[in-house]
Amino acid sequence: MIGVFDSGLGGLTALAELRRLLPDADLLYFGDTARVPYGSRSNAIITRYAQDIINYLLGRGCDRILAACGTVSTVALPALRKNCPVPLSGIVEAACDAACRATKSGRIGVVATAASIRSGVYPREIGARLSGAEVTQNACPLLVPLVEGGFVARNCEITHLAVREYLTPIREAGCDTLLLGCTHYPILTDIFSDELPGAVLINAGREAARAVAEKTHEHGEGRTELVVSDRTQDMEKVCAILGGDLSHAEIHTVSLSDYADRE
Ligand code: DGL
Repeated sequence: MIGVFDSGLGGLTALAELRRLLPDADLLYFGDTARVPYGSRSNAIITRYAQDIINYLLGRGCDRILAACGTVSTVALPALRKNCPVPLSGIVEAACDAACRATKSGRIGVVATAASIRSGVYPREIGARLSGAEVTQNACPLLVPLVEGGFVARNCEITHLAVREYLTPIREAGCDTLLLGCTHYPILTDIFSDELPGAVLINAGREAARAVAEKTHEHGEGRTELVVSDRTQDMEKVCAILGGDLSHAEIHTVSLSDYADRE
């Protein structure tokens, strides 16, 4: 069984792609909706929260785990890998590969959470792949709460306004490619496209799911299980946007307090 997790619902963008690519794999998704957002927290807390989720997924028998969360992937992955007995991947490498393949001008915009931008991981990884690349990045702290709050429709003015504001330096730098470095952001793809017309948008969760699917020979019964730490009122709305199987999947609630490492 493949475990996929995020601080909330954003990782469903990766889950939807895995479901499409691996129709008979068993997939278990965990969204930490009780503690989202992670992106404004310290690296130590982000690492601890992610470890609780990994403990849960391992306890459920996952033999591969995808951290479908840009924040966990940028600030916590090396530490988490040390304690993880099964392959644990994140979203950064696949997303940077895709952005470097897509750009013609070498000017790449990156939007992500404050913790991810602070880590400097995206410019470093892009620079290692494409010499001379010019990376313009900006943190977008309002976007995760907007998505989790269900403000996701294309005509939602408040979300347009926030995206427009956050894209200002990226627009001014003339970027032809925009890496959506937080897995919540592809849920707002239409709004990003409207606000940065003509740019290629890189969906980090989808790219990471493709990389996982290439490494997996998982055959199960094609089950999709969605587990959250709190049932939020707009979960169904986000699942419906992502479509397919996810809009029919059953959602369970689990408290992570039993999975926290005791100090
Ligand atoms: N989907 C998470 C990410 O990719 C959101 C982080 C948050 O909860 O702030 O970064």
